[in-house]
Amino acid sequence: MLLAFAACTQKPVQENINTSEAKEREYIRAIEGEDEDLNLEEITRGEVLISYSDCAECHKEDKRAKGPAFQNIAKRYPNTQAYIDLLTRKVISGGTGSWGSPIMSPHPELKEEDAKAMVSYILSLEK
Ligand code: HEC
Repeated sequence: MLLAFAACTQKPVQENINTSEAKEREYIRAIEGEDEDLNLEEITRGEVLISYSDCAECHKEDKRAKGPAFQNIAKRYPNTQAYIDLLTRKVISGGTGSWGSPIMSPHPELKEEDAKAMVSYILSLEK
């Protein structure tokens, strides 16, 4: 009994690291898939469009804010046309549930081609 107690209280540091890595994996839930070629022109256009939109109110590139970090979005989704289309619809119509309970506001004023460029930029940020 006493021994078991001691074993519980002395968690090796390694285990804590593994736990936080496991949490990160659980949060990101990376989807398997081959990245397609990046369209550099589209990515640059997306970066500029994002800087003129309200995205930064809820998103940071490398840290979770109200919304997920752009780098974490890039880690989850393979860079393919299908996922770019899926995320483009999400940016335009808004939603919740993919990254927890906060809600992403809809952006109905965005042109589809512009939202697409923004998503291409976000998915290019994978480190
Ligand atoms: C009001 C806060 C808010 C604003 C403004 C906002 N977002 Fe989000 N965004 C969120 C939240 C919260 C989520 C997570 C939604 C979820 O869990 O389904 C999210 C998720 C996303 C996702 C991932 C969606 C998914 O299903 O994985 C993308 C891509 C994204 N945002 C892009 C953008 C872009 C581009 C803009 C600017 C045009 C923007 N966001 C503006 C809050 C915001």
